Amino acid sequence: MTAPRTHEGESERAARYRQLEKEWQNDVGKDLLDKPYKARGSTAVFHRQFDRIAREVDLGSPGVVLEIGCGKGHLLARLNELRAAGGPTMVGMDLSRAVFGLRGKGLVGVQGDGEAMPIKDDSVKALIYDGALHHLIDYPAALVDAYRVLVPGGFLILFEPVSSPFSRMVHRVLDPLVFRKVVYESPIDQEYKDHFREERVIETLQNLGMDLTYERTDFLAYPLTGCYAGSVFGRSEPLMKTLLAVEGACRRVPGLRQLAAVVSWRFLVVARKPPATP
Ligand SMILES: C[S@@+](CC[C@H](N)C(=O)[O-])C[C@H]1O[C@@H](n2cnc3c(N)ncnc32)[C@H](O)[C@@H]1O
Repeated sequence: MTAPRTHEGESERAARYRQLEKEWQNDVGKDLLDKPYKARGSTAVFHRQFDRIAREVDLGSPGVVLEIGCGKGHLLARLNELRAAGGPTMVGMDLSRAVFGLRGKGLVGVQGDGEAMPIKDDSVKALIYDGALHHLIDYPAALVDAYRVLVPGGFLILFEPVSSPFSRMVHRVLDPLVFRKVVYESPIDQEYKDHFREERVIETLQNLGMDLTYERTDFLAYPLTGCYAGSVFGRSEPLMKTLLAVEGACRRVPGLRQLAAVVSWRFLVVARKPPATP
């Protein structure tokens, strides 16, 4: 869905694309992950990603864990399974009606926009974006807002697509072939394709004074699932588990680790808001 070009200013264009994004997510996007979640191999890969994110979240003490762009709440449901008694409340926010599915999973769902979060200052102990921050046109402003809602000492966890010259080249070559039968890109994905940059994310968080760790992940199993489009490989759980084990082994070998980072599809950032000074 691409709107016709007119002589509008940047803010009008952004407003129009935010509206198109909401409509598309409600009509198409909210159901796109249903297909890969029916495949056992793809699900094993997603669960491995969730468990990697879960390692960064304190699931043993109270507070609020908030995921923006949570879709139908697959990640939050996994965090809820791993949560200890007396652990945090899981809250999901999404632009689309997908969020209404959270209630049936024992989670709190709020329909809302990550670019205008109706959330109190200093109220969230962990805020997560899993594949959603790159859908926000003014993502640096959203990161500043994420900082605002975090409690002092709270964590911002980002698990997003890599935006390197290599990844852009691969997308240009493969997308028309692999995804030719699936309209999987949202209006903002299409119109603001090269807009989202890891280095801008890191710079914004550093300017806020956050301490952060950064790593590239997912270079073998995840791309072979075909993600939204699915693939024959994604159907096989043993194959995907083997590929995940190979990835793990490569990451332990120094030279291969660097090479894997170049061809990875996701990056993980964990940034901490400075704790309150006594
Ligand atoms: C690629 S999907 C990821 C969904 C989910 N994290 C998952 O992995 O199942 C991106 C999600 O971000 C949501 N989204 C897009 N723009 C948003 C915004 N401005 N605020 C909140 N959610 C947004 C979409 O509706 C969609 O559910």
